[in-house]
Amino acid sequence: MILFRTLRWKNLLSTGNHFTELKLNNNTNTLVVGANGSGKSTMLDALCFALFGKAFRNINKPNLVNSINNKDCVVEVEFDTNNKSYKIVRGIKPNIFEIYCNGELVDQAASRDYQEYLERFIIKLNYKSFTQIVILGSASFTPFMQLSSTDRRAIIEDLLDIQIFSTMNGIVKDKLANIKDLTTNKKHEIDLEQQKYDLQKKHIDDLKQNNDEKVKEYEGEISGNANTISTLADQIELFSNEVQQLQILVNEKVETEAKVKKITKIESQIESNLSKFRKDIGFFQHNNDCPTCRQAIAMEFKEKELTLLNTKVTECDHGLKELEKKLTEEQAKLNSINETQKKIQELQIKIATNNTSITETNKYIKKLENLLVELKNKNSSTKKDDDELCIINVTLTDLKQHLCDLIEEKTYYEAAFNLLKDTGIKTKIVKQYLPIINKLVNKYLASLDFFVNFNLDESFKETIKSRHRDEFTYNNFSEGEKQRIDMALMLTWRAVAKLKNSSNTNLLILDEVFDSSLDTNGTEELMKILHMLEDVNLYVISHKGDILQDKFSNIIRFEKIKNFSKVIK
Ligand SMILES: Nc1ncnc2c1ncn2[C@@H]1O[C@H](COP(=O)(O)OP(=O)(O)OP(=O)(O)O)[C@@H](O)[C@H]1O
Ligand SMILES: [Mg+2]
Repeated sequence: MILFRTLRWKNLLSTGNHFTELKLNNNTNTLVVGANGSGKSTMLDALCFALFGKAFRNINKPNLVNSINNKDCVVEVEFDTNNKSYKIVRGIKPNIFEIYCNGELVDQAASRDYQEYLERFIIKLNYKSFTQIVILGSASFTPFMQLSSTDRRAIIEDLLDIQIFSTMNGIVKDKLANIKDLTTNKKHEIDLEQQKYDLQKKHIDDLKQNNDEKVKEYEGEISGNANTISTLADQIELFSNEVQQLQILVNEKVETEAKVKKITKIESQIESNLSKFRKDIGFFQHNNDCPTCRQAIAMEFKEKELTLLNTKVTECDHGLKELEKKLTEEQAKLNSINETQKKIQELQIKIATNNTSITETNKYIKKLENLLVELKNKNSSTKKDDDELCIINVTLTDLKQHLCDLIEEKTYYEAAFNLLKDTGIKTKIVKQYLPIINKLVNKYLASLDFFVNFNLDESFKETIKSRHRDEFTYNNFSEGEKQRIDMALMLTWRAVAKLKNSSNTNLLILDEVFDSSLDTNGTEELMKILHMLEDVNLYVISHKGDILQDKFSNIIRFEKIKNFSKVIK
């Protein structure tokens, strides 16, 4: 409930540099009279400007400033709500917008949008709703029935205090959009992390495969070389055995050489003897006397000696032949031994070569073994890669968990969104109130002597059934009938507001409602209803002062004196 206390303004439209002030809380019905242009409707602009920063009529802000003084346009409104006293000060040239709560200025920096703060948290009404329940004017006032269904919905939601659901819906919508963005980003992050994981995994697999292949290769080489060593060792054994065997043959060399020497010596002795025997034979054959004693050599002796000597020669020749044969044999044997010795040497060279090969191969195996150790050390460097893969995996799991959380959160928000959208909770509440609204409208219409059956449906479309006629819409009706409908709706909104204790106010201003289309009957009926309203400060702006004045406890008169509007008490 907003209890307006005072409204004052200066340098607004035709008002000059002195405040025009209205008391809004003395529970009276005030008739506002004055000539055209005297400044009556200015009070509506003052009130709307103070609360919403824009005039009730379609006048832009610079044009609100009094054109003579052209500065210092100030409007102030004071009211109580939620057990607090508020004062709003608004000005043009210079621009002022101040909200005072219990005499203290509300920090402008604390609320991002000062106006929004005022509408949402203090007066809890927006411009549209305010003008539907506080002001009924002829000028630039759009009756409820001429508003779009969206605007109708907004006003009713405001009245029923269910705009919080729209606000919540807005927040949920933003959150949903945000979550959708976050989900998309998260999916993208997961994709990137997955790619990173796959690359790292491939890198590790490649490294491992390379290592394994190298290890296999080196192991294969080591085993091949070990086989070679074994083959070489086998050969050495064979060669050594052969050398051992051949060595036995060579062992006879000294003996054979001694034999040859002996045979040669014997041979030379025999040949020496043979030469002596032949010389002796030659002596006996050519000499008949002894050269020493000069005695003749006996023939018998000579023959005997010759026979003996010839026998000896024959024996020597025979012996020589035998020795020659033996020598040839022994020499052949010695040659064979020499050949064997050569063979042994060759074999020993082979053994030495094999030994060298074995040594070299062993060295090579050692080198391969060292390389294997190095490969194993390389395996420990892939541990670093494994650790990195592990970290990526943890991040990936985290991201996936976040995504799950987001998806879960999204489902909650989607559920909330469904509840909060127009067809959700709000429709349920509106559905509950629609029969009450329709009942109230019909009650007020009947009070205004207008007997029709008005019905507003869930989509805020009206059908109006007259008693004798078919279904009508608002536009079918005459101006006076329309005005009755407008009045009935306004009174209904006020009643609903009172029921809800939400957007209720103690102020009602009717600008020329009685002047245009209402007939005498309508005027009287309306006055009756207005008098029945409780706790309301009613301001009725009218040119029909003469007819209406006895129906009001209070009359104020506006006059324009020297181009400035004033209230004449
Ligand atoms: N910027 C301005 N500076 C000075 N006067 C202005 C300015 N804008 C409008 N006016 C005048 O202020 C007056 C506004 O009066 P207002 O509309 O309140 O009259 P009213 O008493 O409601 O008249 P009516 O009975 O014709 O509705 C008009 O005379 C208008 O010409
Ligand atoms: Mg007017």
